[in-house]
Parts: sequence; structure tokens; C-alpha cells
Amino acid sequence: MRITVCCSDTKVAPWVEGLQAALPEAEVSEWKPGAPPADYAMVWSPPQAFCDDQQQLKGIFNTGAGVDALLKLKLPPDAVVVRLDDAGMSVQMAEFVCHAVIRHFRELDAYERDEAQAKWGFRKPKLRADFPVGVMGLGVLGQRVAQAVASFEFPVRGWSRSPKQVEGVECFSGDEGFRQFLAGTRILVCLLPLTEDTRGIMNRATLSQLLPQAYVINVARGAHLVEDDLLALLDEGHLAGAALDVFRTEPLPPEHRFWTHPKVTVTPHTSARTLREESIAQIARKMRAFSRGEPIAGVVDRKKGY
Ligand code: NAP
Ligand code: GLV
Repeated sequence: MRITVCCSDTKVAPWVEGLQAALPEAEVSEWKPGAPPADYAMVWSPPQAFCDDQQQLKGIFNTGAGVDALLKLKLPPDAVVVRLDDAGMSVQMAEFVCHAVIRHFRELDAYERDEAQAKWGFRKPKLRADFPVGVMGLGVLGQRVAQAVASFEFPVRGWSRSPKQVEGVECFSGDEGFRQFLAGTRILVCLLPLTEDTRGIMNRATLSQLLPQAYVINVARGAHLVEDDLLALLDEGHLAGAALDVFRTEPLPPEHRFWTHPKVTVTPHTSARTLREESIAQIARKMRAFSRGEPIAGVVDRKKGY
């Protein structure tokens, strides 16, 4: 089995060495233009030149959960695209989103401002029942997040494309379900894949349907959000705030209004990081199974886009 590795924005050598150690029977090397044709690839955001060069690939294993950047390329026609499923990301996402929900609900930012002025003042406790949390996307990450938030006894609802049953979560699906889902949501969490159907899904029309004083947590992709619509709804007072981890342009430009907006919290696309060891172990396991013709999880439906 010959494997080529092409991961942008990271040091490639540890990935090559790690995969080689996990698959001693294979020949693993870093992709360079004109490299010999491989059977499988392990990639993150490769250039189009990589795909043009490796048209014979049978499988492309993405070192992230989202495949939006990969599916923008003209891929080798017969390659099966496989994404990471979980590999240590769902617990990170659960802790990140629970933290954001609780920080907002318990007004911890306001207490931090008080602390800066040595001010000792209580705020009236709020009712969880008034803060229903709605998770868009009930896949590997969304389900874990929804159940983690539910464990803090918030009412939790979830929305997906196909109908789902998730314990402790009120589930909605499809277009009709979307309206009902939004109308009963006060804290909105986006964990959708970025596809043609979901691009710009958080816009003035949809965010206006949320309960008054709603809060937005985007941990999926920047292009899910129409940034100017969010800013307008924050300034008009319909939205109470937003915790944003992903942006249309990354890194977020220094002059962007999100950096200084008092109701917006910014983090640098870090809510659930790819963990190298877990990811290599999962990809190695899947490459072996796939090469034996066995079914594997995380195969992407190229038509659906996720
Ligand atoms: P997943 O398992 O594929 O789940 C996707 C969910 O979205 C599924 O429940 C799916 O519905 C739903 N969905 C897709 N299109 C929809 C539509 N048009 N309408 C309603 N629901 C729709 O993906 P995942 O592993 O949970 O990851 C989700 C996303 O998180 C990734 O694609 C990536 O963009 C993002 N992510 C971000 C970070 C970060 O650090 N910020 C890290 C990892 C991942 P069905 O179940 O009915 O198919
Ligand atoms: C990170 O954003 C991923 O998609 O894994």
C-alpha cells in the first residue's frame, strides 16, 4: 500500500512518521509535485495541484471533520473521501460549547467586568427554562454537544436533515422543523457541515426567528453566518451576544468589528482541534479496513457535501 501525505498549515513530518509507524506494511511519504502515484492519501486542505497529480487515488482521508475545503477541489474521480469522525474532537467541542453556554447564562463576563472595579454585586439567578439551547446539526459532534448541555439541565433541542431520536433532546428535522426549532431557541449552536444548503443559514431572516435576547455560538464554519446580519441584530438588541470560533476570513483581520464588539467573543478556530495521535490511529485503522473491502465510518457523500 502506497500512501501520500499532503497537509497544509502544519509540519508534515510527524504525520508521515506517525502513519508509517501505525502502518509498517505501507510505504508512506510526503507529497511533492511529481511524486509517484499512491493508493491512499492523508490530507488537510491540499492544493489543486495535488489532486491533478494523484488522479489514481482510491481513498482520500481528511485529517479534519469538515470536508468543505476538500470538496471545492476537482478530486480524483474514483477516490472515496473519508472524514475524521470524533477522534477526540467531540469531548473538546462539548466542553467548549458548555463553557460558552454557561458563561452567557451565568453572566460571567459581567462578573469579570465587576472584578476589574473591585465591585461585589450579585445578579439575580436566571431560570434554565428561559434559556432553551438549540443545536443545528445532530451528527457526531452535535449529538455529543446536545447531550453535554442537557446534562446541565438546560432544555435542549436539535435540528438535522433527517429525523433523529436523541435521549434528552427534542429533535426537529427538515424545513418545517427548522421554523419550529428556531422559534423555541434562545441559545443557538451551529454544528452543521458547510454545504450549498447550509451556507449563510444564520442570516437576518433566520436569526430574527429566535427568541428575543438570543445568543449565537458558531463553532462550525464562518460561512454559515452572514456577519453583517449578526452585527445588525446585535446592535438592534434582538440578539444578546455571540461566541464565534470560526470566520469567513481566517485569521480574522485585525480591523474586523468582531474583535472590539462588546457583545462578541472571538476565539481562533480552536473549539475542537485535530489531535494527531488519535487521528493517525483512526486513519490507519480505516485505511487497513478499506483496503480489505470492509465498511468504514465517515465516508463522505460527495453529492450531499458532507
Ligand atoms: P456530521 O457527523 O456529518 O454531522 C452533520 C449534521 O448536520 C448531521 O446531523 C446532518 O443531518 C446535519 N445536516 C447537514 N446538512 C443539513 C441540512 N441541510 N439541514 C439540516 N441538517 C443538516 O458532522 P460532525 O462531525 O458533527 O461535524 C460538523 C461540522 O463541525 C464539520 O463539518 C465542521 O465544519 C465543524 N467542525 C468545526 C471544528 C472547529 O474547531 N471549529 C472542529 C471540527 C468540526 P443528518 O444527520 O440528517 O445527515
Ligand atoms: C476543523 O474545523 C475540522 O473540520 O476538523
